[in-house]
Amino acid sequence: MWWKCVAGHGARSGAPLCVLPLLLTGLRHGGASAFVPPAWPRVRHRAPTRVQLDEVLTECVRMREFTARNYTWPLADSSFRPNTHGWRRIFRRRFEQISQVADLNERYNGWVSAVTSAYVLQNYTDCGYGLTRAPDDLVAELRRSLSDGLDLGRTRPEAQNEIIQTSESDPLPPLFIDQPALNRKVLHALLPLHESWAGVRLTPEISYGLRLYRNNSSLLMHTDKPDTHIIASILHVDHSEDSEPWPIVLEDFQGHTHEIVMEPGDLLLYESAKVYHGRPKKFSGSWYCSIFTHYSPKDWDRENFHWEGHFGVPPNWFVDSESLSRYPSLEVFGTALKEPESTHGWGPLAESRKLSGPFQKINHKP
Ligand SMILES: [Fe+2]
Repeated sequence: MWWKCVAGHGARSGAPLCVLPLLLTGLRHGGASAFVPPAWPRVRHRAPTRVQLDEVLTECVRMREFTARNYTWPLADSSFRPNTHGWRRIFRRRFEQISQVADLNERYNGWVSAVTSAYVLQNYTDCGYGLTRAPDDLVAELRRSLSDGLDLGRTRPEAQNEIIQTSESDPLPPLFIDQPALNRKVLHALLPLHESWAGVRLTPEISYGLRLYRNNSSLLMHTDKPDTHIIASILHVDHSEDSEPWPIVLEDFQGHTHEIVMEPGDLLLYESAKVYHGRPKKFSGSWYCSIFTHYSPKDWDRENFHWEGHFGVPPNWFVDSESLSRYPSLEVFGTALKEPESTHGWGPLAESRKLSGPFQKINHKP
């Protein structure tokens, strides 16, 4: 679970809830939770302040910071980043779905994830994603590493990850091939391309892979962590001969949902903490291999962005909605979402735009 909140008595009924202790770093770092005395302070306008990573965030402090950032609720159109009709449409729908989530922990996590994407994080590009080819020599080296890893049996099961779903009757978690030196090479080799695309100087964070998804895998729609995973890419290395096309799905800043089928060597650049992405359709085939690379802007205040999403959650998020939603119900798993009543667990797929590689190389300034 990404974050967990603990609501005081009366939360579900919407009674005057003076304190809503949020077990934040406590859960992440193993510390203890703390209840704050039930007093509802007047929220005064003040400048945003730093909240230390080891603090227990109370609803009172959270609302103080919400106000300090000039957030309002209902949300003004001008607050969306970017303020496009399509982006607003995605999140007006999602906010309504999240407000209907029954479980308070899931609801809170859903809010943090959605507001971080909708307006807390700025956008760096007009679209949110871009497609190109990775350098041929780098792809060749990655494919050799993959081939060697398979031939020599250097694969291991990847640790459980709740956003990767596999068959319950025959669970096949992703396999992993460790290649730390090559990952460092990828991280630095692809830096100029990411900087050129995003238009900002970047700090290399991590290249993660090789991951091999296996038969019947799917990946819930989600966003990545805003501490570090701001500008990112997925490089598709290769897939088994028996693989069916397996699209990655993402939403762009104009509100379109895309299904993108990548060929080996294709590189998908995207704003990974802001753009919801996943592979909600089940993979059919033996294996599908990619490497994931992440950067943050040079001036990124990662410690502050540990909290910023929490400060964007609207007031009274814990009060149960009395109206019926017009949209499919939503399940929340940390930063991941699923519409269990919709085909493939994601309703917007019904209107998706479909793209297939190989994609064109884009020129970028070295
Ligand atoms: Fe991701």
